[in-house]
Amino acid sequence: MGFPQRLLFILAAGTILSVTGLEHNYGEALSKSILFFEGQRSGKLPPTQRMTWRKDSALQDVYIVPADTTVLPFLRNKVDLVGGYYDAGDNVKFNFPMAFSTTMLAWSVIEFGKFMGPDLKHALDAIRWATEYFLKATSIPGFVFAQVGDPYADHNCWERPEDMDTPRTAFAVSRDFPGSEVSAEIAAALAASSIVYRKYHLGYSTRLLQRAIKVFDFADKYRGSYNDSLGPWVCPFYCDFSGYQDELVWGAAWLFKATKRPYYADYIDKNVHNLKNFAEFGWDSKDAGINVLVSKLLINSSSNSKPFILNNADKFVCSVLPESPSVLVSYSSGGLLFKPGGSNLQHATAISFLFLVYAGYLKQTNKEIDCGGKVFASPKRLKQIARGQVDYILGSNPANMSYMVGYGAKYPERIHHRASSLPSVDEHRGHIGCKGGSFYFDNQNANPNLLVGAVVGGPDMKDSYADSRADFVHSEPTTYINAPLVGVLAYFNSHPS
Ligand SMILES: *[C@@H]1O[C@H](CO)[C@@H](O)[C@H](O)[C@H]1NC(C)=O
Ligand SMILES: *[C@@H]1O[C@H](CO)[C@@H](O)[C@H](O)[C@H]1NC(C)=O
Ligand SMILES: *[C@@H]1O[C@H](CO)[C@@H](O)[C@H](O)[C@H]1NC(C)=O
Repeated sequence: MGFPQRLLFILAAGTILSVTGLEHNYGEALSKSILFFEGQRSGKLPPTQRMTWRKDSALQDVYIVPADTTVLPFLRNKVDLVGGYYDAGDNVKFNFPMAFSTTMLAWSVIEFGKFMGPDLKHALDAIRWATEYFLKATSIPGFVFAQVGDPYADHNCWERPEDMDTPRTAFAVSRDFPGSEVSAEIAAALAASSIVYRKYHLGYSTRLLQRAIKVFDFADKYRGSYNDSLGPWVCPFYCDFSGYQDELVWGAAWLFKATKRPYYADYIDKNVHNLKNFAEFGWDSKDAGINVLVSKLLINSSSNSKPFILNNADKFVCSVLPESPSVLVSYSSGGLLFKPGGSNLQHATAISFLFLVYAGYLKQTNKEIDCGGKVFASPKRLKQIARGQVDYILGSNPANMSYMVGYGAKYPERIHHRASSLPSVDEHRGHIGCKGGSFYFDNQNANPNLLVGAVVGGPDMKDSYADSRADFVHSEPTTYINAPLVGVLAYFNSHPS
């Protein structure tokens, strides 16, 4: 249990408590944030599965080349696509955001794995669950599988993944129908994961890196957006709004970190100047992440793109600090950071992660950022901002509500998540068909299965939360909300004050 016991303890000690003064159990939140990924697993679950109400699903996710098609003429066999993650509250495997979540899990371990204690093992498992799948999705040279599952049919049903009977269509990009963003993001995920695994399993690490190199070459050589190649199968679900230039540089940056090859440093130098979205970071736009990552890689280098990168990383920080004259984000009166679009907590977790990493860089280089108007951003201030966002998520907010399922005294009970909201297979063995789930979607009961560790889209700008299953903008968890949070919680677990 979370803070109730701590609350009693602190009260007994005679401390005056405000909501924001609550102490959080970052270690507990860390364990739970990683456990969440087990609830999102697709495929054959291992005996070590801890989220036991979930069962095997989508074991038929296999691409079978139709005899009469010319779409993938080079494929002669079946392609096994079992595994990977459901990205949110539905049962589609969207490889573009899945790859970003994997890159962020790997980055979390690279930066803060040393603070994860016994949870490190589970974080490695969470990464491997994705990389095993990405090795399958990139196993045929010249093709990268971008998605499995017909998203229209899936979204039209409210079904458990274990019962799913909508078409599991597999979509690939190829030389003729390229998808540089999805391919380069998968390359980034494989390269980042290879760095994680180098210490624990060198053979596996090498395999991941070799594949990352090939997939990046494919992404770069056959340029185009999967928007155009796969059209309505990917848009309006995960449209690539920001173009694929950012994923190419991001992929190159991870490959540079993994290989130290000058080829990738040159690639960054030549292409980073095209990136203008310095304030953005998420599954679509990688720009701020690139600048933070590369600023560390270039610490002792005389690369000619270094001033551009550092300047943009600083501008990113100044676009977030509430006291900065160039602030671009909004804050609720309770202190939560807001950016336009849905799933707002993705911004709070991703920005907090970048702030902690960049704080480390500033400290190493003994630097503070001048945001103008006598506002300076110190490493300490960056950490304070990150901590404020995390504490808000864990319950230090006007609604006294934790936005992580299963953490704290009060948390979301009706999350927009098919598996969590329908009775588990253990409780209800019979098949629940496409529309059979509507009863569970529509009712006001709490979800029967706790998706422990899931962080939802979060409250509205007035710091209030309706806890409504239908309100997916606020009540749906996603893998890319949690993935950066894993690193942030690990950091605060070992730096509680
Ligand atoms: C992808 O599609 C969206 C929505 O139609 C559009 O706004 C965006 O510019 C497209 N991106 C690319 C790279 O073509
Ligand atoms: C950069 O150079 C300094 C001084 O030579 C050294 O102490 C530091 O470890 C180097 N940092 C990196 C990241 O290589
Ligand atoms: C939150 O907790 C504080 C302190 O216990 C209390 O004063 C406040 O009324 C609570 N707010 C809500 C919305 O429950």
